[in-house]
Amino acid sequence: MADPLASIVGNSPRIRELKQQVAQVAAAEFPVLILGESGAGKEVVARTIHALSPRRDAPFVGQSCLAIPEALIESELFGFEAGAFTDARERRIGLFEQAEGGTIFLDEIGDIPLSFQKRLLRVLQEREVRRLGSADAIRINVRVITATNAPIEQFVSEGHFRSDLLYRLNTFELRVPPLRQRIEDIPALVEHFLQRHGRRFGIEPVAPGAEVMQQLKDYPWPGNVRELENFVVRWISLGEEALNALDKHMALSFEQQDISRRWLSMTMDEIEAEVIRMVLHDCGGNKTLAARRLGLARKSLYNKIERYQLEGVKSKGAKTRNRG
Ligand SMILES: Nc1ncnc2c1ncn2[C@@H]1O[C@H](COP(=O)(O)OP(=O)(O)OP(=O)(O)O)[C@@H](O)[C@H]1O
Ligand SMILES: [Mg+2]
Repeated sequence: MADPLASIVGNSPRIRELKQQVAQVAAAEFPVLILGESGAGKEVVARTIHALSPRRDAPFVGQSCLAIPEALIESELFGFEAGAFTDARERRIGLFEQAEGGTIFLDEIGDIPLSFQKRLLRVLQEREVRRLGSADAIRINVRVITATNAPIEQFVSEGHFRSDLLYRLNTFELRVPPLRQRIEDIPALVEHFLQRHGRRFGIEPVAPGAEVMQQLKDYPWPGNVRELENFVVRWISLGEEALNALDKHMALSFEQQDISRRWLSMTMDEIEAEVIRMVLHDCGGNKTLAARRLGLARKSLYNKIERYQLEGVKSKGAKTRNRG
């Protein structure tokens, strides 16, 4: 059987560390909370944990909590009996029961309604569910993995998320680093997606050359691996034209994204690297100006640029000229 860890593509230090943690937590039974930006690979990590765990032959049931309307969340997760409500013609098994013996993966857990959090906590504590319309408790043997891109600690302090539930869920926390903090992984990911999608289209795709690859490394990937995957799909059919979509996206994303949401899942080093990257970008790559804006000596900015491998950061204008 192929090594499940191989489905997490990348060999950067951060990804190697992540794979190590994944292998460690897989064997254990305790809940895992996966933190990381949208599209960074949280679900890939959850599936890999399951595939490495003793539960691997039982089901993996994944569900985004945001995708379920508030009124339906209980029946979706716990199921219902025939006649439980007007439309309930026949019994329906909930996701927890479907995952029996295996793993349930609840994505966007930070966004579940407060009103439902207490119910969920009780199910986790008692390891039993009750289908809607039934008084009988059904014992469940399910490992719970959750994920969120929301600043869940902040939600707790603001009263939107129960602290007792969080402590139930985050026995072990895994952080999936954003793509811009592991740009060394870009070539391997591009190759991976070229293979996967090339095969799907039944063609032998042409790999991007060194110059295009450099542009991919310079780009901050606000949509992370999912955005890179979309790029590769466009690249297969459009070639260089696929690059045009990137700048537009970046201009929008840095203005529109809720930065604090992302920062709460990052380490101080990552935040520092990101701030420097943004200021450099804003200063058109002018390091003297950037150092002044950041209140740093030039020498110390240079050191940080080297340490965080930010050498490629250019202004948007410079990029456009290079391309034209
Ligand atoms: N390290 C990786 N190796 C291979 N493929 C990856 C990797 N990370 C992400 N992907 C791919 O990128 C896409 C997005 O990943 P995934 O769905 O796991 O992200 P996510 O963090 O769960 O996103 P969201 O927050 O939007 O739910 C998927 O197609 C996934 O297969
Ligand atoms: Mg996901």
